[in-house]
Amino acid sequence: MSTPSTPRPIEISPSVLTADYARLGEVCVELEMAGADLIHWDVMDGNFVPNLSFGAEVIASIRPLLSIPFEAHLMVTEPTWILDAMVNAGCSTVMVHQEACLHLHRTLGRIRELGATPAVVINPATPLEAIVEVLDMVGLVLIMSVNPGFGGQSYIASVESKMRRLRELVLERGLDVDIEIDGGIAPATIASAASAGANRFVVGSAMFRDPEGFEHATSELRSLASAVAI
Ligand code: DX5
Ligand code: ZN
Repeated sequence: MSTPSTPRPIEISPSVLTADYARLGEVCVELEMAGADLIHWDVMDGNFVPNLSFGAEVIASIRPLLSIPFEAHLMVTEPTWILDAMVNAGCSTVMVHQEACLHLHRTLGRIRELGATPAVVINPATPLEAIVEVLDMVGLVLIMSVNPGFGGQSYIASVESKMRRLRELVLERGLDVDIEIDGGIAPATIASAASAGANRFVVGSAMFRDPEGFEHATSELRSLASAVAI
């Protein structure tokens, strides 16, 4: 049985992948003003995922406009070449896919050397066992609840059992690790994700499609998650 622990803070991390890029800086400032805890940057190389997004220069240009932390979700094959640029662009958490790293232990260690928080990401089909050996190296595990590459996809609820097992493991080992979930998070799905152990939530399309705006979306999602957080 896991040992009781104080619940970790509920954090909302909007993904700007589906933002209007003509207004990207303004959108990020609006998200911060609306109560977002972080900005989630989906960096895509067109190789690990069949899509291309933004690089370090774009992120660096936005960094001085707001003060909340930036997290970089690297959907990049063998991402060691881009780690320095992402940290220098102002990302304080750098997330690499287990599936994309031939030497995951070394890559996570490099992120720590650069002074950022290392995080590991696993896709829906990847078993928890693939990252058990590096849990003591990370500050966060990102569980994908969609197949990476695009916003606006449907939530894959089957990843929740993996997330419950992850939380048990983190508690048993007394690790200081946040659990984040990414993909299809919306008012209809966030409570289930929170009750399965997530405390940080990437929100993309659900943030942008709320007719009442960012502030409503952020506070509604936060209260839905807080009500069931474990
Ligand atoms: C998908 C990205 C996600 C996505 C989330 O590859 O990693 O962060 O943008 O968007 P929604 O919330 O619309 O699924
Ligand atoms: Zn993401």
